[in-house]
Amino acid sequence: MNTTFLKACRGEKTDYTPIWIMRQAGRYLPEYQKVRGKVTFLELCKNPELCVEVTLQPIDRLNTDAAILFSDILIPMEAMGATLEFHEGKGPVFHDTVREQADLDRLIVPDPLEKTGFVMETIRLLRKELQVPLIGFAGAPFTCATYLIEGGSSKVFWETKKMMFTNPTLFHKLMEKITATTSKYLLAQADAGAQALQLFDSWAGILAPDDFEKFALPYAQKIIADLKKTGLPLIYFANNGATLLDLSVTSGADVIGLDWRINIGDAIKKVGNKAVQGNLDPFALLLPKNELRERIKKLLEDAEGAFGHIFNLGHGIHQFTPPDQAKYAVECVHELSTR
Ligand code: CP3
Repeated sequence: MNTTFLKACRGEKTDYTPIWIMRQAGRYLPEYQKVRGKVTFLELCKNPELCVEVTLQPIDRLNTDAAILFSDILIPMEAMGATLEFHEGKGPVFHDTVREQADLDRLIVPDPLEKTGFVMETIRLLRKELQVPLIGFAGAPFTCATYLIEGGSSKVFWETKKMMFTNPTLFHKLMEKITATTSKYLLAQADAGAQALQLFDSWAGILAPDDFEKFALPYAQKIIADLKKTGLPLIYFANNGATLLDLSVTSGADVIGLDWRINIGDAIKKVGNKAVQGNLDPFALLLPKNELRERIKKLLEDAEGAFGHIFNLGHGIHQFTPPDQAKYAVECVHELSTR
């Protein structure tokens, strides 16, 4: 078992800097496309054998130091009772948006085993196969709430902010329900065998720091506090979160995920005695190999003072990335960081 990733999360010495890639299982891999050619995305998410297969694909091809469960942050939202569809080229769609009390009343706090047993089964099966640690995950409540309120992806988050500012009571009640769901869901993932847990706050960066502190952070903090008893490393990733970093550090997470918009050395000064994860621009994987190698070298040097460093991209890998560039990046990180 390669435990380099887990050691880095805890700030222990490692032989080299571990790397995994956000969205490492997915559309940029032809072997993923092959599986996806036969089933819809949601069918895939609900089929443990196929989820195992696509989770393992990047480990085999890229030699990353951790696996991330193949699923989606919106799976537990569907389990709450929101009808979810994924439309080709458009992404997730919720027809029944949550904008009024009656909409919220229709949502439940689901039993994770009953409603998302396929996720736990995937985790159990994966643990039999994997030689690297398995990361479980969920969306952070704010990010999940935006999808439920907007009915899908958004650019301006008009409805979300409208609810925050004109009906904060309803907004907070929605956040509480998502938070309760997420704590239970992640505890079930830990029980099933996940070895680290990450909260993805993909849209936190649309908030002013004061609003982040009021409307989003307390709920991430609550989940992280609920998960402490698992003893697993907990990772909080706020995308576009450079301006929220001082606050994110108070999330309680052991590892702070960083997007690429901040220099990792500057971030480390703010993060202090916690590990950091990141933060190469996903598009840097398109650079000529020598320039990619130089960037990785510089990033590793800038991160030298970190309490612990897990190399990653600053956000998910882009679907048009050549897989051999990702493989080369993993090789560079391993080679250049060997101590
Ligand atoms: O290796 C992995 O990380 C795969 C597991 C994974 C997926 N989604 C699979 C997926 C993870 C960790 C996620 C997280 C996720 N899902 C986030 C947070 C991370 C981030 O990117 O900010 C968010 C916001 C979602 C919601 C979501 N899922 C959107 C907006 C979309 C459509 C846009 C897109 O990039 O395709 C998805 C679909 C999705 N989730 C795909 C995959 C592989 C593509 C679906 C397909 O095969 O067509």
